[in-house]
This record gives sequence, C-alpha cells and structure tokens, in this order.
Amino acid sequence: MLPSVSTEDDSTDATLIVPVSVRDLLPRDLPACTWSGSATHLRHVERELTRAEAGEVDYLAVCTPADLPVAIGGIDYQASAQAGTLWQLAVFPALRSRGLGTLLVRAAEQRIRNRGLRRAELAVEENNPRARDLYERLGYAAYGREPDAWDEEGPDGAIRRHETMCVLMRRDL
Ligand SMILES: CC(C)(COP(=O)(O)OP(=O)(O)OC[C@H]1O[C@@H](n2cnc3c(N)ncnc32)[C@H](O)[C@@H]1OP(=O)(O)O)[C@@H](O)C(=O)NCCC(=O)NCCS
Repeated sequence: MLPSVSTEDDSTDATLIVPVSVRDLLPRDLPACTWSGSATHLRHVERELTRAEAGEVDYLAVCTPADLPVAIGGIDYQASAQAGTLWQLAVFPALRSRGLGTLLVRAAEQRIRNRGLRRAELAVEENNPRARDLYERLGYAAYGREPDAWDEEGPDGAIRRHETMCVLMRRDL
C-alpha cells in the first residue's frame, strides 16, 4: 500500500494514510531519531545498538515508506531471567495516540516469543500515567516499584541527574 491522500470536494482538509513496517533500528538511523531525546540519549541508544549486534538486546524501529523511524524501542534480554524487558519506547511526538506505540509493543512481544521466552516486562515512571494506561490496556499488570536514575542533558546542554520511581509491570505471552 502506498501513502494516499483523500480529500472531500472543495476542501483543503485531507486524510493521509501511510503504511508502516517494523525492522531493526540501525546506526545509520540515529540522525533521523533526534525527536526521541537528547544527544546524550542518542549516544546511549548507539551503545545499545552495539549490544544488539551481540544479541543481548533487540532495538526496533517502526518506519514509514521513506524508511524514516517514527517509533523506536528496545528489548533487553539480560535485565531479567526468562523475560524480555521493554525499554526506551518513544513515538515521534506528532504521531502519538495513533496506534504506533501499540504496534511497537506487539512487535517487541513477538521478538520475545521468537527467543523462546514467555514473559515481557517493563518499568514505567509513576509520573507517566498515560504510558501506564497504555500498558494496562495491552495486558500488563503492576507487580512492584523500583527507583531509577539517569543523567539527562537539558536544553542548555547542562547534565542533570534525574531520579524517579517506577512501577514494574509484566505480561505473560
Ligand atoms: C508512551 C508512548 C510510547 C505511547 O505511544 P502511542 O503511539 O502514543 O500509543 P498508542 O497510540 O498505541 O496508544 C495511546 C493512545 O492512543 C489511542 N489510540 C491507539 N490507536 C488509535 C487510533 N488508531 N486512533 C486513535 N487513537 C488511537 C489509545 O486509545 C491510547 O489512548 P490515549 O491517547 O488516551 O492514551 C508515546 O506516547 C511516547 O513516546 N511518549 C513519550 C515517551 C514515553 O513516555 N515513553 C514510555 C516510557 S515507559
């Protein structure tokens, strides 16, 4: 299916339908992923792609027909025994609430099954209720809480420590 625009007669409003597909995120994609976070974040993602080459993680990208990533996210197979751990899920801001996050989670679950594992896990910040609602809708249940912390680069380029509390969630596949 090719992208198509449908318009009503005499209208300047239109609906654009664009097919998307899921593949592995590659180092060459990173310059097109600046929407997903700071330069520091993208350096972390780049490191994770090295782990992907070693089979320790999968890192997925949902792409448009022009092969541009509009949603990305990882699955870590070393964070937890017998489970794949979803993390760093992000959807291009202007395309949120259109099902891309759902597609990414379902594709990640398929990768986990393909490894012979039957459980998906993730951690979501307590102050991110929208993401938590999405995971609940997709069948994830909370089973604990855990603090997390990481360094974040502000708009001024300064690095600040971000400390937060996460809800741990899991789903049997
Ligand atoms: C959290 C995140 C990954 C979810 O992705 P998303 O693409 O917005 O998720 P979905 O579209 O699949 O589902 C979310 C919402 O869209 C709605 N939706 C899903 N498909 C839809 C469709 N075809 N048409 C209209 N609405 C739809 C869902 O009902 C849901 O409702 P809500 O907007 O009230 O929450 C995304 O919002 C994001 O990148 N957030 C910032 C980073 C982040 O918080 N990451 C999670 C870290 S744990």
